Amino acid sequence: MKIIMLGAPGAGKGTQAKLIAERYGIPHISTGDIFRANIKAGTPLGVKAKSFIDQGLLVPDELTLELIMDRFSAADCADGYVLDGFPRTLPQAEALAKSLLEKGEAIDFAIDVDVPDERIVNRMSGRRACLKCGGTYHVKYNPPAVDGVCDACGAELVLRDDDKPETVAKRLEVYHSLTQPLIEYYGNAGILKTVDGTQDVDKVFADIMAILD
Ligand code: AP5
Ligand code: MG
Ligand code: ZN
Repeated sequence: MKIIMLGAPGAGKGTQAKLIAERYGIPHISTGDIFRANIKAGTPLGVKAKSFIDQGLLVPDELTLELIMDRFSAADCADGYVLDGFPRTLPQAEALAKSLLEKGEAIDFAIDVDVPDERIVNRMSGRRACLKCGGTYHVKYNPPAVDGVCDACGAELVLRDDDKPETVAKRLEVYHSLTQPLIEYYGNAGILKTVDGTQDVDKVFADIMAILD
């Protein structure tokens, strides 16, 4: 099963993608997590990406495509994957469609986790992220068992550099101009499913399972 997660920054794409990946035994591929891992390790890709990410801007398509396009050929992708944060622009969606078509494959579902902007800023300020395994928590809505420690891998949880309110506002603006058009794109392709992302994490996931099962 090949799934794309759509939705604004902070809508809960990562939270739901992790749950989907566990339940269906497919890899969770997050471009944001891959960039953050590269930033942490100080790779050339990470250094380039950081300057864009910290301003709330998208990493240029060229660099993003270079990063992601061979990921789909890895052995663990044989039964599908859940893509979180990619594609994020029309050129990325077209590059993905072209590469899948060449292999005779297609995306099964594009799931839009719908949350209005007003709710987003609140979520971001309380978010805590695991840079090791991509785990996502919220101090109030989804706390880890032990404060500041990832339930899944035991690593330390951190505040993301791009979760400052001014940067979040910029990310939302970029989302509306460059990423939101993908909702129409996948709607036209007939694979768009929308879920109400303002509900509790478990309820959102139940709605997604009802679509995928
Ligand atoms: P990325 O890491 O993808 O960030 P994003 O899209 O801005 O999304 P977030 O990770 O912030 O939010 P999310 O939807 O995953 O929500 P989460 O589950 O964490 O990308 C970061 C940057 O990298 C981009 O800005 C860009 O610069 C660059 N980049 C990445 N991909 C790129 C690409 N393809 N092209 C170009 N550039 C790219 O949830 C948020 C919080 O809310 C958490 O605290 C969570 O616990 C909580 N929460 C989740 N669900 C609920 C709920 N139902 N109720 C209450 N709280 C909830
Ligand atoms: Mg995320
Ligand atoms: Zn972790």
